[in-house]
Amino acid sequence: MSEELKQVTHIDNVRLGEDEKSVVIIDQTQLPNRTVYLTLRTPEEMYDAIKLLQVRGAPAIGICAGYSIYALARQWEIGSYTEFAQKFHEQKEYLNSSRPTAVNLSWALNRMEGLVTANAGKPVSEILDLLGKECRAIHEEDIAMCRAISEYGLSLIKEGDGVLTHCNAGPLATSRYGTALGPLFLGKERGMNFHVFSDETRPLLQGARLTSYELQKAGIDVTLICDNMASIVMKNGWVQACFVGCDRVAANGDAANKIGTSGVAILAKHYGIPFYVLGPTSTIDLNCPDGDHIPIELRDPAEIREKWYAEPMALPEVKCYNPAFDVTDHTLISGIVTEKGICRAPYTESLAALFKK
Ligand code: MRU
Repeated sequence: MSEELKQVTHIDNVRLGEDEKSVVIIDQTQLPNRTVYLTLRTPEEMYDAIKLLQVRGAPAIGICAGYSIYALARQWEIGSYTEFAQKFHEQKEYLNSSRPTAVNLSWALNRMEGLVTANAGKPVSEILDLLGKECRAIHEEDIAMCRAISEYGLSLIKEGDGVLTHCNAGPLATSRYGTALGPLFLGKERGMNFHVFSDETRPLLQGARLTSYELQKAGIDVTLICDNMASIVMKNGWVQACFVGCDRVAANGDAANKIGTSGVAILAKHYGIPFYVLGPTSTIDLNCPDGDHIPIELRDPAEIREKWYAEPMALPEVKCYNPAFDVTDHTLISGIVTEKGICRAPYTESLAALFKK
């Protein structure tokens, strides 16, 4: 692996602090202009880091939440199991309320709490050891899942292809290779070349600030486009596949991802371009029957009205609607690429089969 590729894929985006009572993240809101590390110590700092997208991307949120609840638990001086379990539950619920759509958040926190419940009555020190191992395992497993997703994803494209992506599902949003960007990094590692079109991704510009940054730094040919330019690059014949990440995939294959993703899928269908959703099984929520049941986060109108310029971009009183995600209907999805393989329609069957393996 070249040094430039390694620097991107091995970025230290989320880790446990040395004292194991804090979590260290890269503040993604400052990229690409500054690489700033933040140390999160209090529940409020952890909650805000997720809410404000200092740490973002479904898998990275899950990893951060696992480390956070462990770091908090290590700070408590509690000897009694009952008291410990109660405080753990309270803090877990608080962190879980930071963002609603990415299921990885509750997935990781429930996994951590499951350990507390399964070890009821044991000494707190023993439970803390188990929790430390568990949050590290969540991170390690994500690295392995991203790598496997990258392999499966790479089998869907060939040398010289154009790939369009929306939002950011690279190393910053996950661990190591990423999901939607993983096949591109893996292909690059193997000497392959692709042309990537990165949607800027309004309103918070994850595509411009993070995706084009990661790809450019890794030496991958990337062209940044505004969201409303996806149609023309598809029409020009420059896109052979669309790769996007996901925040929650329902049992029927409906997939929530960054707002604007479903529009890309509709365009891809129009132009006959395959549209793939890439994500780990930790993002699949079989308890959620379909996209109508996926909670969609509504964010601050200021992100639309006044975020990026010194002056407001709109009248302060203008009404805004700012959903952070949308749901792509399963009928528009050519395949869902997971670490266990590529699921095809009918998704109700292929996704359920993943969990039986
Ligand atoms: O609001 P964000 O930036 O957290 O949204 C992120 C996305 O929508 C990603 O595409 C998704 O989480 C997949 S990350 C591998």
